[in-house]
Amino acid sequence: MLAVAILAAGKGTRMKSALPKVLQTLAGTTLIERVLTSCNQLQAERMLLILGHQAELLEQKLEAYTELEFILQQPQNGTGHAVQQLVNALKDFQGELLVLNGDVPLLRPETVKNLVEQHRSNNASVTLLSTRITNPKGYGRIFTNKQGQVSQIIEDRDCTVQQLKNTLVNAGVYCFDWNALVNVLPKLSARNDQKELYLTDTIDMLPTAMHIEVDNSEEVVGINTRQQLSQCEELIQKRLREYWMGEGVTFIDSSSCTLSENCQFGRDVTIEPQTHIRGHCQIGHRCLLGPGSFIQNSDLGEEVKVLKSVIIDAKIGNNVAIGPFAHVRPETSVADNCRIGNFVEIKKSVIGQSSNVSHLSYIGDAKIGQEVNIGAGTITANFDGINKHQTYIGDFSRTGANSVLVAPIILGSGVTVGAGSTLTKDVPNGSLAIERSKQITKGNWPRQQKNHS
Ligand code: UD1
Ligand code: CA
Repeated sequence: MLAVAILAAGKGTRMKSALPKVLQTLAGTTLIERVLTSCNQLQAERMLLILGHQAELLEQKLEAYTELEFILQQPQNGTGHAVQQLVNALKDFQGELLVLNGDVPLLRPETVKNLVEQHRSNNASVTLLSTRITNPKGYGRIFTNKQGQVSQIIEDRDCTVQQLKNTLVNAGVYCFDWNALVNVLPKLSARNDQKELYLTDTIDMLPTAMHIEVDNSEEVVGINTRQQLSQCEELIQKRLREYWMGEGVTFIDSSSCTLSENCQFGRDVTIEPQTHIRGHCQIGHRCLLGPGSFIQNSDLGEEVKVLKSVIIDAKIGNNVAIGPFAHVRPETSVADNCRIGNFVEIKKSVIGQSSNVSHLSYIGDAKIGQEVNIGAGTITANFDGINKHQTYIGDFSRTGANSVLVAPIILGSGVTVGAGSTLTKDVPNGSLAIERSKQITKGNWPRQQKNHS
């Protein structure tokens, strides 16, 4: 039987944040969710999360993880004290307890699984992950005996100058024999620089402590500061870009672009400088994105061009051109072969195939048919101050420049709207609607001469 406990009660003082540390994000995903992901190959019988600082907020953010048992640690008196809180919950439990620090976000599931397997075959009382780091500042140092077993872990701040030279560090990931751990947990004392109960002090009380060295120390970095958060973000971004280059994506200035792990790209996509693709995105073959674009939670078909534009929660068909300076807002869908041009904002609207909204428009709560041309400066006046209303525009219709369509309103198909019209009534199929006063032109209108005297 396997129980997993993730330590996430700490405040993360060094972050200087209103958020608990484990809710900081990397490539848009919280540290704690990353740790949960690293456990997803384990099929553990129990999943426990130790929380304390802003416990309610954390519980709320993780409510989708129904398998989690939340255990409160109040006050937060160290990692050993955190694990002591499990004694009740795991009273009759037999098996291994895998403990992970909630701030070690890059662990691969394979590494964690291997730790449990190795531990089981070694018959040790604890097996932990270690690594060698050239600059080990802040990490607990691992000291081994002649047989290569771990004899002691000493925290960075409790080390002598000599001990600080040791570069073998504790990754904060441990597989314990639960029965053995329960026996020593009550013996922890706070005789250290932080006056806390350290989980690492259980190691020299346990009969056999083994360690598995992780070759790539990047995998077990712990996040204590914003500097470390930023370094980790860079690492993730670099890996993501390199992965997608391997899959046929071109980056013009790769280090200026960011991606999320939930983006999928087709072949021969080009990503121009300063372009950011966030959340869940699906990008079709041969799209050209950027420079200077932001795309979030959106699906783009093939050969879509996006220049200096923002697209959020939208669905875009094939061969669509967007921008420069367009803002496509949530719940919008744009069909194939459309053009969304300069200074156009579209919200919660459907744009039919081969239609154009090319210049200076606001289209909100609208359903626009196929092959429609929305003239420059056309506005759907969708809001009456209290409610939002719908605009419908049928296939093959065209609106003149500077038209205002006051919703709710239905324009049929093949409708023409004269430039400068403010329409408040529905227009039937095949009609011209025009609403403006007649032009008055007066002849012989002498220009006033400026008096320069
Ligand atoms: C810890 C280890 C150190 C190791 C490093 C790896 C101890 C004493 N030290 O140090 O050997 O090299 O991780 O990254 O364990 N937490 C609680 N309750 C508490 C205190 C902490 O749940 O009372 C949680 C924190 O939220 C955090 C994790 O435990 O997720 C680790 O705590 P942190 O203070 O970051 O420990 P480090 O100093 O990094
Ligand atoms: Ca830490």
